[in-house]
Amino acid sequence: MKYDPLVETPIIRPATEADLAAIDAIYNAEILTGVATWDLEPWSPERRRRWFAEHAADPTQPVLVADAGGAVVGFAYLSKVSDKGGWRFTREDTVYVHPDWQGKGVGRALLAALIERARQLPIRLVVASIESTNARSLALHRSLGFELIGEYRNAGYKFGAWRSTTYLGLDLGDPRERGAPFA
Ligand SMILES: CC(C)(COP(=O)(O)OP(=O)(O)OC[C@H]1O[C@@H](n2cnc3c(N)ncnc32)[C@H](O)[C@@H]1OP(=O)(O)O)[C@@H](O)C(=O)NCCC(=O)NCCS
Repeated sequence: MKYDPLVETPIIRPATEADLAAIDAIYNAEILTGVATWDLEPWSPERRRRWFAEHAADPTQPVLVADAGGAVVGFAYLSKVSDKGGWRFTREDTVYVHPDWQGKGVGRALLAALIERARQLPIRLVVASIESTNARSLALHRSLGFELIGEYRNAGYKFGAWRSTTYLGLDLGDPRERGAPFA
């Protein structure tokens, strides 16, 4: 599908089940052609449905999409980093934009909306794991206040080369101090 960026300015809205095929199209293309994700095999529709059911049942794991006149051109979500209880105030963000729409502010709009959502929730730390050569994602996160945590050097192997990932974090402060729920 070819998108014309002049047609619509995307709006950011919560994802629905009807968006899952478009999410998969964007994500699975990155799996097969890029190193932003170290997934090696495309996700099946069944796996994506299970993933969405888990997120839809948990307000602290929101999924947002960028919708340009009915076409999903990007998505972003928060996920748990661990099921161990002490980690319950930490979330990892993920953001992907369709290649035709990259570099036009869609990623920024998605991530800014996701952070705004996180501020309403019992969340303290948002972390991002970013492939270390991904200058655009690193710049996007830094411009929204994320700071360096550290790097896992040579933690991944994809397309015949060792890959590193850089962790950035955004500390939103104690949720109680901004009137957000705490449980
Ligand atoms: C990374 C990604 C989500 C960014 O979204 P985007 O819509 O392309 O980015 P935006 O247009 O919102 O630009 C984000 C910032 O990066 C900067 N930027 C853009 N291209 C850049 C580049 N090549 N190098 C450095 N910075 C760059 C922009 O100036 C902008 O900064 P600002 O908001 O302070 O002005 C998107 O490009 C993408 O989906 N890439 C492939 C998958 C991926 O890498 N996902 C992230 C996994 S961690």
